[in-house]
Amino acid sequence: MRDDALAGKKSGGRKLVIAIDGPAGSGKSTLAALLARKYNYTNIETGAMYRALAFKAMQSGASLNDEKTLAALADKSRIELVPNPAGNRVMLDGDDVTECLRSQAVTDAASKVSVHPAVREWMVAAQRKIGAGGGIVMEGRDIGTKVFPDAEVKIFLDAAPEIRGTRRFQQSPAAATHEASVVAELQARDHRDRTRANSPLEPAADAVLIDSTYLTLDQVLARAVEVIESRMSHIQESEMQA
Ligand code: DC
Repeated sequence: MRDDALAGKKSGGRKLVIAIDGPAGSGKSTLAALLARKYNYTNIETGAMYRALAFKAMQSGASLNDEKTLAALADKSRIELVPNPAGNRVMLDGDDVTECLRSQAVTDAASKVSVHPAVREWMVAAQRKIGAGGGIVMEGRDIGTKVFPDAEVKIFLDAAPEIRGTRRFQQSPAAATHEASVVAELQARDHRDRTRANSPLEPAADAVLIDSTYLTLDQVLARAVEVIESRMSHIQESEMQA
């Protein structure tokens, strides 16, 4: 039986919400994409939504500190993640902006726009709508704490800052030539994401922590699958008893 069919059977036919949170460079995007493929779920990278809004703000000249203008900009925006075999495409108001979102400037701007409560409110509402039917792997910073506090599976993926910085540097566009500056930027962004007043990056009380510092991708995947399948069996058992 295929993994997705087996998963459906194991969870009593229910399509789950799998929440993956963690800091930049922890490997959550890679893990989320692999899990989504394995269970035939939809993969939602919420960071891409913040990036798309940041990109729009930069293009329109809006100040990244102006919460009201940013929230109004979000209200007028259509941000969609369109599945594609090579990874989701990010559509902003009907245009494919995927290739514009990974630059250092947009990365930094996304972290800045994400501190504003009104922006977060808009994003959380949009993300809840996208994930309403379940059958999703949603990754970000506040999925298990805020967007889907009742998610059936919550994983918090972390790794030592130096390791995350090095990984990010290796994935950076050719323009990034200084590892030290990529690491410094990542640490500054981490600090902003973890200390903002509204929905800071932190593990949900009931999240399973996976530290990928000394793990290979296969080991991280195996551990995540173990967590998911144990939750699925638990759900199936409770549904049979009900
Ligand atoms: O995951 P990412 O690097 O693409 O995220 C870009 C920024 O967006 C990140 O610095 C913080 C913000 N973000 C957030 O605040 N909440 C989320 N659920 C996802 C991303």
